[in-house]
Amino acid sequence: MSERLEDIAVKMVADGKGLLAADESTATNKKRFDTIALVSTEESRRDYREMLFRSDDAMKKYISGVILYEETLFQKAANGTPFVDIIRTAGGIPGIKVDTGAKPLAGFPGETVTEGLDGLADRLAKYYDAGARFAKWRGVISISDTLPTYGAIKANAHALARYAALCQQAKIVPIVEPEVLMDGVPGTHDLDRSEEVTRRTLQIVFQELADARVSLEGMILKPSMVIDGKKLRKASVEQVAERTVKVLKETVPSAVPGIAFLSGGQTSEEATAHLSAINGYDLPWDVTFSYGRALQDAALKAWDGKPENVAAGQRAFTHRAEMNYLAAKGSWTK
Ligand code: 13P
Repeated sequence: MSERLEDIAVKMVADGKGLLAADESTATNKKRFDTIALVSTEESRRDYREMLFRSDDAMKKYISGVILYEETLFQKAANGTPFVDIIRTAGGIPGIKVDTGAKPLAGFPGETVTEGLDGLADRLAKYYDAGARFAKWRGVISISDTLPTYGAIKANAHALARYAALCQQAKIVPIVEPEVLMDGVPGTHDLDRSEEVTRRTLQIVFQELADARVSLEGMILKPSMVIDGKKLRKASVEQVAERTVKVLKETVPSAVPGIAFLSGGQTSEEATAHLSAINGYDLPWDVTFSYGRALQDAALKAWDGKPENVAAGQRAFTHRAEMNYLAAKGSWTK
């Protein structure tokens, strides 16, 4: 495989394929496992991820790469095969989440800045050696009547840009993920407010990326959709698609090869329907999915932590992966 950043970035988003975000931190993984009353241990996390990564059909046909948490990047399947090899054998690209989480931003009550820049260059070299060819960093923007502030957007955008520059220096494609929360507090904002905040956020992110001399051709944007708050949720599929496309066209340079959305708390079906509607527009980028919950929720439930349900879990995952593949080609129908 070509090791040029531009080629890796294109491969991550081309032909309807998308990314499986399986990079839940140990704390987030515990929350997910709690929903099926499964204790989160190194072994149960391994079994769960092995179930996903050994879904051959899904991995070969619909998934271009997998975002891993550090533990998983270095982890082996039950028979001793490294997960990285299983992903690569299916034709996928291994990736790694490198931020260390959103922490309270001093002086900005209710807002966070994502940490993880200290020592990042050294960690990236280690991840590259382990097989990672792309990385992810998530900045979080909360909406309320008074938030977000310019200061918080700027701090997050600056960190994203510094992370992206370090990745490119390490020959790793950065996924730049500024998430405008739909399920934040209070989560009652309307579509207009989401549009305004998403536009402002992306404007500032691309300004910071330019200032940091990040090559747009060698990155992927992972944005949230323009969608009303989870406690309101009135906007139609068509409205969400229209506003999302409008904001992206206003803010994202066409030199960026691909956009891979997060699902952010949408139901699995909503996330597919929105992606398909967005792809009904004429767009200058490949637009696909980089879903966590929207690809995994049904699979986690079907698996239920039981070895005898592995095939059922894989079927559920494969179904969602196929639906999102069709959506990324704009050819999904209900
Ligand atoms: P969701 O699709 O569940 O939002 O997860 C994607 C992700 O990687 C968030 O950082």
